[in-house]
Amino acid sequence: MHTGSFARSYRVPETDINKPIARFEDLRGILRYVPQFRQRVFVIAIDGALLHQPGFSSLLQDVAVLQSLNIEVVLVFGARSQIRMLAGKRGVNLSSDDGMGRTDAETLEISVEAIMRQCNELMADLTALELPVAVSNALAVHPAGVIDGLDLEYTGRIERVDKDSLAVLLKADIIPVLPPLGYDGRGATLRLNSDAVAVEVALALNAAKIIFVSEAGLTNTDGSRLAQLSVAEAREMYKRKEARHDVNLLSKLRYGALACQEGVPRVHIVDGSQDEALLAELFSNEGVGTMIHADDYQQIRKALASDVPALVSMMQQSMEEAALVPRTRDQIQARIKDFFVLETDGNPIGCGAVHTYDEETRKVAELACLFVRRSHKNLGHGQRLVAYAEGLAKQRGCEVLVALSTQAFRFFEEKMGFQVTDPTSLPAVRREKYDRSGRNSKVLIKVLK
Ligand SMILES: CC(C)(COP(=O)(O)OP(=O)(O)OC[C@H]1O[C@@H](n2cnc3c(N)ncnc32)[C@H](O)[C@@H]1OP(=O)(O)O)[C@@H](O)C(=O)NCCC(=O)NCCS
Repeated sequence: MHTGSFARSYRVPETDINKPIARFEDLRGILRYVPQFRQRVFVIAIDGALLHQPGFSSLLQDVAVLQSLNIEVVLVFGARSQIRMLAGKRGVNLSSDDGMGRTDAETLEISVEAIMRQCNELMADLTALELPVAVSNALAVHPAGVIDGLDLEYTGRIERVDKDSLAVLLKADIIPVLPPLGYDGRGATLRLNSDAVAVEVALALNAAKIIFVSEAGLTNTDGSRLAQLSVAEAREMYKRKEARHDVNLLSKLRYGALACQEGVPRVHIVDGSQDEALLAELFSNEGVGTMIHADDYQQIRKALASDVPALVSMMQQSMEEAALVPRTRDQIQARIKDFFVLETDGNPIGCGAVHTYDEETRKVAELACLFVRRSHKNLGHGQRLVAYAEGLAKQRGCEVLVALSTQAFRFFEEKMGFQVTDPTSLPAVRREKYDRSGRNSKVLIKVLK
């Protein structure tokens, strides 16, 4: 049984002792994710170049935090930059530096030395954080062979992952560390690509995530962060090989898409030079890096009784902005069947409700409680929620959908094709309530086709 506790395995460095770790609401936000991550495997693949950057010890502390939350962490690391540095010092011409091209005998020698030194430093740093770690030889490898007529010599291909030996370590709260090297069973050492190692290990262990902690992050053409990609988009982007993404990032795109396609639900690529990038990516809805996802990770679904607290909190936020009519927990609970929520990775970030009114001559639906959390506005969620409400109203046999709004009437008119009408268009019972409320909301209507 995994028993790691925050106090036992995460030591706050003395220099940071007076620094608040997080605001309380941040802490609450983090704790929301913990049940879904507990005892799930996260494979963290760190670029070698980060090892000598000033923020590296914070990155390892973030790894310690994950471990203390009972997340089963496997560490993989790359060594390209160390191999290049050592080759430069020794005046050796590398046949390749990424574990994918040809590795000749001299390149292998330099690679083994650089990788083992780096592994040693990593073990020392992790031990300083009191993290139990073990270097693993769980990869069964063969020579990659001859590809397109080129003998890749000492470059390896991963044949199998001994998942049982890794599981034993994880069960004992020990972090397995996998260098980008493998042994072929005949006594030969072969050079591997660390991104490929991360993917194979994640697939073998049925990991929930791979997090590539990279030297830089993926960006849009305007330099802004690229927040998410589907597998198809990642593959397309890899093929386009745009100049702003170096070989290193292209490799993450390639292997990230492959991992998702083969069954790893989420792959994250974060810029490891950013402070707290790892935790911020994992424990915030918005993230700070790029997430590659296999499926549509956002969904709109009918609300459940367990959503009532989240719905109350969203209503509360909107009431404070005076956009929605105050509703109590009991009122929401009583009509929970009318509510729907939009969630991202299991966290509700928007909602709405469709109430129906049977009149003698027609059946009318009202869209109420439409709300999108401030952090997620202007991403098209409001329009998706209204479209969902329209579908629901049609399913229930309604001919028109009405909505009351004090502040978002233009949104309904301009984005969703509603028209401002007068209160007489409301169903009789609703009209009474409208008159009593004194809110003087605009009444909007849309004929459902
Ligand atoms: C109205 C609301 C649901 C829109 O959600 P959203 O996810 O931000 O909207 P989308 O991303 O789908 O659409 C964004 C577009 O709508 C526009 N828009 C958003 N709110 C608007 C408003 N109150 N008035 C006019 N336009 C608005 C944006 O400017 C943007 O336009 P653009 O694409 O031309 O730049 C959200 O702002 C909200 O929760 N408001 C508070 C609650 C509320 O008023 N609910 C309606 C009463 S039932």
